[in-house]
Amino acid sequence: MILPATDYNIEKAADLLRQAKLIAFPTETVYGLGANVFSPEAVAKIFEVKARPLFDPLIVHLADSKQLKDVANVDNEKLQQKVKALSVFWPGPLTLVLPANPSVPTLVRADLPSVAVRIPNHSVALKLIQSCGFPLAAPSANPFSYVSPTRAEHVEEHLGNYIEFTLDGGACQVGIESTILSLLDEAATILRPGAITLEMLRPILGEVSYQTSVSSNKPIAPGQLKTHYAPRTPMAFASDKSALFEKSRIGLISFQKPQGLTQKFEVLRCLSDRGDLQSIGQKLFDTIRELDKLGLDLILIDTCKEQDFGVAIMDRLRRACAKSSVGS
Ligand code: TXA
Ligand code: MG
Repeated sequence: MILPATDYNIEKAADLLRQAKLIAFPTETVYGLGANVFSPEAVAKIFEVKARPLFDPLIVHLADSKQLKDVANVDNEKLQQKVKALSVFWPGPLTLVLPANPSVPTLVRADLPSVAVRIPNHSVALKLIQSCGFPLAAPSANPFSYVSPTRAEHVEEHLGNYIEFTLDGGACQVGIESTILSLLDEAATILRPGAITLEMLRPILGEVSYQTSVSSNKPIAPGQLKTHYAPRTPMAFASDKSALFEKSRIGLISFQKPQGLTQKFEVLRCLSDRGDLQSIGQKLFDTIRELDKLGLDLILIDTCKEQDFGVAIMDRLRRACAKSSVGS
């Protein structure tokens, strides 16, 4: 069931979350499947509903930085300074991996001594967490390893029967999951690229590097599986000529106005006139989901330059294409 995000429905959602039930809610990145972080019973339901392996830890969503101490241990002064400096990106699409406060159930953090936290930049999410009075453990509200949801309808399609309801916040603005930055070691590492980019983090932190395991099925950090975020239809990069194609029904997702097409496509979606990364990110998952429903033989997709937000877009697309036998 999808409900409009009125104050009344947000209160109702908070009540249900207090009773260890699950509510899906919008954030600026993707929709989250929320549970009371301090209720192992509620958190267990997330793993069940998503068919998510227990080794894949959850992100904890806070209403403000005052809640940070309830879930993380930031007594270390150096760490505290880093978190303070990075809070210019909060609320926003930046998740920090920090030493955990032992009060966070081990199920949330997959037995790790660390916890991932962020403050989402969405008024509905913030109101909901405030009204609960406790942080929400929330993964993306999709079945494990399918494309993340960027509209309430996406959540309902797969999870509607298993949760109380989805608060409707329309289409997510960013459209790609948050940047995950580990502050556990001296040098900060990006475990998952997102809208807060390496280029934005470097001036604040100095040394920052990527530590994503795109090419492997053995995650460095849990959840970094090679074939995450994949549609059911085989997907390949349009630049990969080997994917062309005796296939008869092909859909194309382009990042700018296509010119001089030689192939006939069953369906063509253009995410931006001139390759604007924000527009591409915002529409990407929605469009992949749309084409995935059409029973195509193949979805072809553009590539973009791997800098700034383009790193996150290509990270997700590589994983989505890795699943299909075509072109890999
Ligand atoms: O934008 C987002 O981050 C969305 C919205 C709902 O906030 N959430 C999201 O959650 O993408 P999820 O569960 O799909 O991805 C969470 C990932 C895990 O797969 C794992 O890679 C990482 O966060 N993670 C969580 N806790 C961690 C920890 N303690 N150490 C390392 N990685 C962790
Ligand atoms: Mg996810």
